[in-house]
Amino acid sequence: GPSLDTLAKARGMRFGTAVNGRPAGTDSGSRANPAYAALVTGECGLVVAENEMKWQALRPAPDRFDFARFDAMIDWADRQHLAMRGHNLLWHQDKWLPRWMATHDFGRDRRRAGERMLVQHIETVCRRYGRRIRSYDVVNEAVTPATGALYDTALSRAIGGAEPTLDLAFRTARAAAPHAQLVYNDYMSWEPGNDRHRAGVLTLLEGFKARGVPVDALGVQSHIMTQPAGSDATAREAEWRRFLDAVTGMGYGLVITELDVRDNNLPADPNVRDRAVADYTRAYCDLMFSYPQLRDVLVWGMSDRYSWIEGFEPRKDGARRRPCPYDDRFNPKPMRDSLAAAF
Ligand code: XIL
Repeated sequence: GPSLDTLAKARGMRFGTAVNGRPAGTDSGSRANPAYAALVTGECGLVVAENEMKWQALRPAPDRFDFARFDAMIDWADRQHLAMRGHNLLWHQDKWLPRWMATHDFGRDRRRAGERMLVQHIETVCRRYGRRIRSYDVVNEAVTPATGALYDTALSRAIGGAEPTLDLAFRTARAAAPHAQLVYNDYMSWEPGNDRHRAGVLTLLEGFKARGVPVDALGVQSHIMTQPAGSDATAREAEWRRFLDAVTGMGYGLVITELDVRDNNLPADPNVRDRAVADYTRAYCDLMFSYPQLRDVLVWGMSDRYSWIEGFEPRKDGARRRPCPYDDRFNPKPMRDSLAAAF
C-alpha cells in the first residue's frame, strides 16, 4: 500500500519522523540499523534530527563547533531524498544548553557578548546548511508550563531578558535563512492541566506579532497521552479548537513536530493499549488535519524500539511503552492505520 508520506502528499501535506544516528549509521558504523532505515525511507518524506542539531551536540565549547554527526545525518537524508527540518536553534532552558554555558564568563559587556554568541550560533548553522533546510524550530520550549511565564537562562540573563533573546533568535534566523519557515515549538497540548501553558504560548505569539518578530508557525509537539475512561473528549476538543483558532487567527501556520502517544491509564495488555492509542491518535489527527494551516506532520520516532518515552517516563507497571506507529520489531501497529486513515 501507499506510504504515509504518499497519503499525506495526496492532500498537500507531508509526513516525517525524528531520527537518531541509527538509520544513518552516524553514531558509529556498527549501530546502523538497515531495517530501521528502510522503515524511515519507506514511509517518510522528511526527517528531523532527534538530538544532533542541538547546542549540546554542536557546541562542545564556547569557541568550537562540531558538525560531524549532524553533517553525516543530513548527507544521509539528502541521499535518500528526504527533506530535513532544523531542530533547534535555541532550546531556551538552562538544562538544555551546553553545560559550559552556566559558568561562561561573558565579560564586562555581557549584553553584547551574549547577543554575539547567539547570533554567531544561528548564523553559523543557517549558513552552513543554506537551502538544504527549509524549516527551523528557531526557539524551543520557552514557556514555563505551570505559570505561562518565559524561562530565563544564563544566555538570556547576559542578554538582558528572555523577550529580547527570543526576538533576536528569530530576526537572526530570518536574515540568515530567508527561504526557511521559522517555527516556535512547544509542548502545550489538548489535555487537562495545560491551560496555563497554552495561555503563555498565546501571550508569546501575540507579543511576536506586536513587535514584528518574524515567526511563521507554531510547532505543536504533540507528545499526547491517553486519558482516563470517562474523560470529557468534547470539552477537550472544544478547548483545543479555541487555542488553535487563536493561533491561526493571528496568521500563524501549524506544524505537528513531535507526535507520540503515551499509553496512560490503560492495562498492560499491548492489544488494548495499541487500540486505545490508535483511537486517540485518530481523534487528534482528525481535529488537527481540519486546519488547512497544517502541512507537515512528524512523529518523534517511527518505532517503539528507539522511542525516548521509555527513558523519559516509563510505565509504572514495567510494561514497555508503545508510543510509535511501528512496534519494536518494525511491524505496523493500529496507530499507523490511524495516521493513514486520517490522511
Ligand atoms: C528529546 C530526545 O528525544 C532525547 O533523546 C533527549 O535526551 C532529550 O530530548 N521536546 C523536544 C525534543 O523538543 O527535542 C525532545 O527530544 C523531546 C521533547
